[in-house]
Amino acid sequence: MRPHLRLRAKRWAGDWRALPPRSRAGRPARGDVACERVAEPRHPELAWACPRDHGRLWARAPGWACETCDAQFPDHEGYVDFLPEVDEPPQSGFGPRAMHNPIFARVYEGLWRPLYTSVARGAPADPQLELWWILDQLRKAEGKTIVDLSCGPGVIGRRLAQSGRFAAVVGIDYSKQMLRRCLDHCAVEGTRGFALARGDAAALPLGDRSMGAIHAGNALHLWPEIPESLEQVRRVLEPGGVFVATTFIHAPGWRGRSSRRFAQAVDARLFDPGELRLECEAAGLVEYAEKVEGSAIWLRAEAPR
Ligand SMILES: C[S@@+](CC[C@H](N)C(=O)[O-])C[C@H]1O[C@@H](n2cnc3c(N)ncnc32)[C@H](O)[C@@H]1O
Ligand SMILES: [Zn+2]
Repeated sequence: MRPHLRLRAKRWAGDWRALPPRSRAGRPARGDVACERVAEPRHPELAWACPRDHGRLWARAPGWACETCDAQFPDHEGYVDFLPEVDEPPQSGFGPRAMHNPIFARVYEGLWRPLYTSVARGAPADPQLELWWILDQLRKAEGKTIVDLSCGPGVIGRRLAQSGRFAAVVGIDYSKQMLRRCLDHCAVEGTRGFALARGDAAALPLGDRSMGAIHAGNALHLWPEIPESLEQVRRVLEPGGVFVATTFIHAPGWRGRSSRRFAQAVDARLFDPGELRLECEAAGLVEYAEKVEGSAIWLRAEAPR
């Protein structure tokens, strides 16, 4: 690509590289762009559990086997496959199906994500602001193992692993293509401490109360089973563990109209205002808070203590 085109593409996609360093109080301090040392992962594979009965797993080549039901989960492509019998979820529509397309997985991070995020905000995407907000919400979970649920190509999960603030980051996604893309990025960047699995948000391959936090970026609108998935989030979070998510809602005005048109064109769902609070509370999550900008919603909730 010619240099000026590359520069333009980078401006459009936003610059994700700068991580906020921790201030003394542990809060991200703006202004400094130094990357922190990447932490040594604390055997993130120890976090896996059978998605059917949450039983413990034993290493059995070429992957893992459940102590309780003896189900086998292969681990030969760089991620553990907790959905070995299914290829793609039975979802229709352009948006949900595109996630399983190799070309789409390639252009997702640099093109598609900034495009739809900008439409929803009604302003250019600001990836650094998003990452810093997420890191700020996850301060309570520093030093613990956390999850990037529906990680896609690892847009956020890779940066969380690179931040060095967590014992390990576990990335889970349904799409093989997205996971392959994530592995490619990790290899090129030298990202460590990011363990990947193929799994369903509605049947998480993680133990009860095992994770310090769960992040789900731009994904809830694609989950077919919201109540079941949020119940899984609550089950897996340790008491007081944080759930942070970004997704999209119906909004008034021109930003709402353009988002609605965009969502209709790509068969994506928009939540109603207030709906996500009710869904989180119904799943047993507490301390719900949200921030809305156009159609984009950033929310956080916690598992009860
Ligand atoms: C729009 S991408 C978001 C990727 C990334 N988290 C981000 O912040 O850009 C949505 C991701 O959700 C995944 N996904 C959809 N349904 C899922 C499910 N039931 N369980 C797990 N992941 C799912 C898709 O495969 C896709 O990678
Ligand atoms: Zn089992």
